[in-house]
Amino acid sequence: MFAYWKKNNIVSLLFQSPYVYLANQKFWVGNYNSLIKELFDIKPDENILDVACGVSMVAPYIKGYYTGVDINKNYIQYNNKKYPANNYICQDFKEIKFGAKSFDQSIVINFLHHLPDDEIKQLLDRMGQLTKNKIIIADLSPNDKNFLARFLYSMDQGKFIRQENVLTKLISQSLKIEKVYTFLSPRRIYKHIVFVCSPRN
Ligand SMILES: C[S@@+](CC[C@H](N)C(=O)[O-])C[C@H]1O[C@@H](n2cnc3c(N)ncnc32)[C@H](O)[C@@H]1O
Repeated sequence: MFAYWKKNNIVSLLFQSPYVYLANQKFWVGNYNSLIKELFDIKPDENILDVACGVSMVAPYIKGYYTGVDINKNYIQYNNKKYPANNYICQDFKEIKFGAKSFDQSIVINFLHHLPDDEIKQLLDRMGQLTKNKIIIADLSPNDKNFLARFLYSMDQGKFIRQENVLTKLISQSLKIEKVYTFLSPRRIYKHIVFVCSPRN
């Protein structure tokens, strides 16, 4: 039955709604953003870019000037109402138009597993051009020992959940990796890996 839903994209249709996205996050995951330690290292005068920002769950942790880009217009509308002080742009990441080094730090959370290898390179090369100091990349990491995790990962819209060594190789093509850490989400089902990177130039 779940295979049928996936095949017919009912799940992805439901997830067009910010409320469905948020309910799913709250129920199965909990707010993992509070566990990404690097988010607390952002200073109030810094310019921050969040690529594929979704419903902007990181926004409460960011002290700087925040710009979020996402392709989903429902999410962007929701963000504009909830966080009017922030800047949101409804756009494909491939179309981001800012000039070189416009941002002090940039963030991409739980998006890489939606992209094939060549698009990850395109994304991270661009983030390297746009960012002065630090690029925080967080993504799902396999959690094979947990049966529920295996089931939920199989239902995920992203089809490219990669092992740490594979992600490391991909990210290193575009950025310098400074630090890596992993943690379990608050519901202890999903496992996350965080790469703290700097641009190569
Ligand atoms: C799993 S969600 C992660 C959202 C958010 N970063 C978070 O951690 O809650 C992936 C997001 O990528 C966005 N997305 C998918 N393709 C995109 C693209 N080509 N350009 C920009 N955003 C995209 C989706 O709309 C969705 O909000």
